[in-house]
Amino acid sequence: MTAAIPTIVLGGTGYVAGELLRLLTGHPHLEVIGVMSESEAGQPIGATFPNLQGGLAQACFGTKLQMLGLLQTGPLALFSAAPHGASAALVAEFITRAKKSGCDITVVDVSADFRYADAAVYEAVYGQPHGAVELLSSFTSAVPEHLPDTDRPHIGHPGCFATALLMAAVPLMKLDIADSDLYASGITGSTGSGKTPAAGTHHPERHSNLFAYKPLAHRHSPEVVNICKSVTGHRPALRFVPHSGPFARGIHVTMQARLKSKWTEDAVHDALADFYSDCPFVIVKDVAPRIKDVIGSNYCHIGVASDGESIVLLVVIDNLVKGAAGGAVQWMNRQLGFAETAGLLSPAIAWT
Ligand SMILES: NC(=O)c1ccc[n+]([C@@H]2O[C@H](COP(=O)([O-])OP(=O)(O)OC[C@H]3O[C@@H](n4cnc5c(N)ncnc54)[C@H](OP(=O)(O)O)[C@@H]3O)[C@@H](O)[C@H]2O)c1
Repeated sequence: MTAAIPTIVLGGTGYVAGELLRLLTGHPHLEVIGVMSESEAGQPIGATFPNLQGGLAQACFGTKLQMLGLLQTGPLALFSAAPHGASAALVAEFITRAKKSGCDITVVDVSADFRYADAAVYEAVYGQPHGAVELLSSFTSAVPEHLPDTDRPHIGHPGCFATALLMAAVPLMKLDIADSDLYASGITGSTGSGKTPAAGTHHPERHSNLFAYKPLAHRHSPEVVNICKSVTGHRPALRFVPHSGPFARGIHVTMQARLKSKWTEDAVHDALADFYSDCPFVIVKDVAPRIKDVIGSNYCHIGVASDGESIVLLVVIDNLVKGAAGGAVQWMNRQLGFAETAGLLSPAIAWT
């Protein structure tokens, strides 16, 4: 049996990091050796994440300096769940130190910092300079299901809304099912905004409530268009209206487009099932998919409806798992040559 790959998680006290640690607890090939948090350094990880058990819960968060000190000769997996804007420079420090230490580092970053190949586009979308332009050519960004191989050593994971949108947009474009005008609405749970409370995520605002935000102006829209173009060769026009839902986790996306004349609902269903047939986490349903059927899991359920003129694809994922931590572990598995499903096959919780 080969030794587990030492693994470090950055952005350690956040919701995505918590999910990474939960998934990595049961991972057969990745072993967490360090979790970075400047705010909680020296404090037990289990105090922030009481759901974790065993040695990992008893271990303590460490500073950046302590984490850099863990880099040694040999392979290392680095997940960054730091905020965009901070992640790129942080990851650059680890890659630089890894080179000096003879450490063969593989990075999966769940922030937005490595989702764009072009620093100018990143700066236009995020309104700040990129923190590690020199690293952009060593990263690629896509949902793992849409990019079977890459020669890039590192991955920028698409955002949570972007993941759900791409699961629909990519087959629509690649299989020439629909016109390139895509109309989508999506509803996300409150964990999508991270752990720091804000007016839009505060419990009295979210509970029993539903409202749109940033209609037609969400940052994930250009990301989806860019990634869709890079994996299909087609650049769709995406009109996306995100909504805040009255639940903690999960995303439901409804995407509509004009159907090309040769297609029927049954034919689209079968074509999607075929398109995703080698993808262990994607299930094309015969009924409308439901968020509770994927919560806590890395699965994505897709539903199809058509009236002969328009096509509707319904997509559900867990924003923290398939949309972030689970997708990141899936990519790390691939990059390190493990089974794509390692540590990720637990079914959904269902009755949360
Ligand atoms: N939430 C989601 O559903 C979701 C989905 C996809 C992608 N993402 C992305 O994943 C990342 C983490 O999201 P999250 O929801 O877990 O956020 P979060 O709950 O706000 O946590 C972010 C963590 O990053 C750390 N941090 C803050 N400032 C930092 C800095 N300057 N340098 C290094 N670390 C810093 C903080 O830990 P310490 O202060 O303790 O160090 C904090 O716990 C973000 O980039 C987000 O956009 C989130």
